[in-house]
Amino acid sequence: MNQLLITGGDRLDGEVRISGAKNATLPILAASLLADSPLAITNVPHLDDVTITLTLLRSMGVEVTVGDHLALEVNSSTIREFIAPYELVRTMRASILVLGPLVARFGRADVSLPGGCAIGARPVDLHLRGLEAMGATIEVENGYIHARTKRLKGARILMSPVSVTGTENLMMAACLAAGETRIENAAREPEVVDLARCLSAMGAHIEGAGTDMLHIEGVDSLHGANHAVLPDRIESATYLVAGALTGGRVKIKNTCPDMLGAVLIKLQEAGGTIRSNGNWVEIDMQGRRPQSVSIRTAPYPEFPTDMQAQFTTLNAVAEGAGTITETVFENRFMHVQELVRMGADIHLEGNTAFIRGVGKLTGAPVMATDLRASASLVLAGLVAEGETRVDRIYHIDRGYECIEEKLAQLGARIHRIAS
Ligand code: EPZ
Repeated sequence: MNQLLITGGDRLDGEVRISGAKNATLPILAASLLADSPLAITNVPHLDDVTITLTLLRSMGVEVTVGDHLALEVNSSTIREFIAPYELVRTMRASILVLGPLVARFGRADVSLPGGCAIGARPVDLHLRGLEAMGATIEVENGYIHARTKRLKGARILMSPVSVTGTENLMMAACLAAGETRIENAAREPEVVDLARCLSAMGAHIEGAGTDMLHIEGVDSLHGANHAVLPDRIESATYLVAGALTGGRVKIKNTCPDMLGAVLIKLQEAGGTIRSNGNWVEIDMQGRRPQSVSIRTAPYPEFPTDMQAQFTTLNAVAEGAGTITETVFENRFMHVQELVRMGADIHLEGNTAFIRGVGKLTGAPVMATDLRASASLVLAGLVAEGETRVDRIYHIDRGYECIEEKLAQLGARIHRIAS
């Protein structure tokens, strides 16, 4: 199993280019199932989750052509199966995103129930209830969701709680339903907006993307289009935190400052000087140790839960004390015990972490448990004294393209070893 070996203590200084957003690429790949001609997608990140999704589409008979720089052309007219098997879904929960498109276009889908994961139970009841509201019959048997319909019909759906992939699945399904669908309390994440942009280019009629009220007027068919995936805001924020906690200066290029609002406010509170323009953001700590910040995660545009672990690490080495409250997932502090093993002063009470910054962390062998927890451990290794060995980094390869190359470009001493 691969590991990342990190020697801490360097102040990061330099520039990195941000890759396409994983959490936009996955639903957009699923959206190709809705089109009766090829969907061309560019700025696709080279990540394990993307590879798994391409494998899933190919297993159904969908034709996927991979061009230079991972430019994709996905043609679902060759589809022959409507099944997402357990073997693939258990490795990537987001496979559930094929459910809505398959039912909407082909009237049938047999998709393995995604299990829970390290950060929580991750139910999909909102996805299923929404499809039932649109007229699908849903049976769950032997660990599979069996969905059938003649043709979906428009419905009024309330999402409670807000669900990103729930909104995406139902928005895609509604594009081919008969009549109008309203999705209330819809997710507002930029990745949802990027999917809506792609669907509109394919001929869908969607209004309200980016707000909590979506109106979708169903059409009879969708065609292919060309879509460039938006930059990854969580990758962007992760590299800015790397600059903040090492007291350095990091410029992230090919990103979108407007989608980083809540994070940039907290990085300024932590003492970072932030400069930005159309497609870049720079943080400069001028050698200063970061100040502690307090955070409460919530759906976009509030502070993203996918940045909670990274800011836990920032607070662990910051000056002062801060609290981090996780309101989205029920078990998203798995990184805390690993950080405590590196010398962090953190204690948990319910869904809040109380963190007192320490002068230094010490390198240690640590283990990743989920994607963003593993990122927080890599960040800890950047500032820890000595060597940190992060194990189970298959988690990190799901969501960070070329992480060791990009960090090395910023001056970090990091390399991958096969163990
Ligand atoms: C998406 O997951 C992201 N994944 C997650 O990113 C992200 O953490 C999460 O949204 C929140 O922003 C992708 O986009 C592929 P939710 P998703 O449905 O859609 C509850 C990463 O690190 N819920 O918005 O699965 C659920 O339990 C990953 O890139 C239901 O109760 O999350 C949670 O408490 C991790 N019933 C809350 O809603 C449902 O049917 C938000 O979950 C669905 C969700």
